[in-house]
Amino acid sequence: MSETNELLRLKDLCVDYKVKDGYLSAVKNVNFSINRGEIFAIVGESGCGKSTVAHAILKLLPEHNEVIKGEIWYDGRDLNNLSEKELEKVRGHEVGMIFQNPLDSLNPVYTTGWQVQEGILLDNVPKAEAWNKVIEMYRDVKMPDAEKRVNSFPHEMSGGMRQRVMIGMMLARNPKLLIADEPTTALDVTIEAQILKLIRELRDEHNTAVMMITHNFGLVSEIADRVAVMYAGEVVEIGTVFDIFDEPKHPYTRRLMQALPRMTKAEGRLKTIDGSVPRLTNHKKGCRFANRCEYATERCRTEDPPVNTVSPSHSYQCFGEQGVKEDV
Ligand SMILES: Nc1ncnc2c1ncn2[C@@H]1O[C@H](COP(=O)(O)OP(=O)(O)OP(=O)(O)O)[C@@H](O)[C@H]1O
Ligand code: SF4
Ligand SMILES: [Mg+2]
Repeated sequence: MSETNELLRLKDLCVDYKVKDGYLSAVKNVNFSINRGEIFAIVGESGCGKSTVAHAILKLLPEHNEVIKGEIWYDGRDLNNLSEKELEKVRGHEVGMIFQNPLDSLNPVYTTGWQVQEGILLDNVPKAEAWNKVIEMYRDVKMPDAEKRVNSFPHEMSGGMRQRVMIGMMLARNPKLLIADEPTTALDVTIEAQILKLIRELRDEHNTAVMMITHNFGLVSEIADRVAVMYAGEVVEIGTVFDIFDEPKHPYTRRLMQALPRMTKAEGRLKTIDGSVPRLTNHKKGCRFANRCEYATERCRTEDPPVNTVSPSHSYQCFGEQGVKEDV
């Protein structure tokens, strides 16, 4: 079978969490695709649904607590139709995930080296060889004192070291898709730069596709090929890095851009915008940005805005001309 360039496609993905007073619409009608070897960033404020999208792809959401709708196509298969066993294979080998908090995914009672070795042994590598691979991998991710650090427990490591362990685990498995959920948020700028370099190398050397989740616009401009801007559970604009940085259309993206005086790491984090994200419980219709948008009309509050296509790579979700006005 010939391989297509597209590796992942989400079609109308919706995730509702069950909460005390009904359902919270955390993700609504999200559509995007990621190609092999592409670095795709999802950027948005805290609580806009970024991690929920990532967890929905790998079916890692808390069970019985959510309703998922839509399709998740990965390498020609709809993940919603795979058995748990088939899904385990995809999770372990084909799609790697670096979690927002690496402490959550490392077991506190085993050394980190032992945990990494477990993953390598799954591929039927002899034990002695596997341990050497672990040390090699620690060196690859520039872990200080690699030979010693393989024997460290997670709590004996700094946040940056734990993040390196997680990235190393992924490098060892050589996934087709790496989902990195805020992989550098807790790290200082020097370590962040090194981690980004590792992720870029992974892509360049193995053609790994990367879904990079972040609230740091500076980081997006450095590493991504394409970007989806999320707001309150929806993708409000999507395009290449050039589309989004040179010609942002959605009023929210434009406000974010205005808040960035220069694209440097320190200044690249999303600045706050007046007002707050609406409560997403029992949300009916209407643009979710309406309560913060200076262009909002009555229609914006009562009908869902359409998706406007600017070019084959660039689209945004908004009523009318507001989004394209130069003075937004
Ligand atoms: N298990 C859960 N039960 C109920 N609501 C949840 C659950 N997990 C997340 N949410 C809610 O879903 C929305 C999206 O959360 P999510 O963690 O996906 O956002 P995020 O963009 O990853 O935020 P952050 O940048 O802070 O990591 C938020 O309103 C959050 O409170
Ligand atoms: S649809 Fe209306 S409220 Fe929403 S971003 Fe566009 S102009 Fe603003
Ligand atoms: Mg998150």
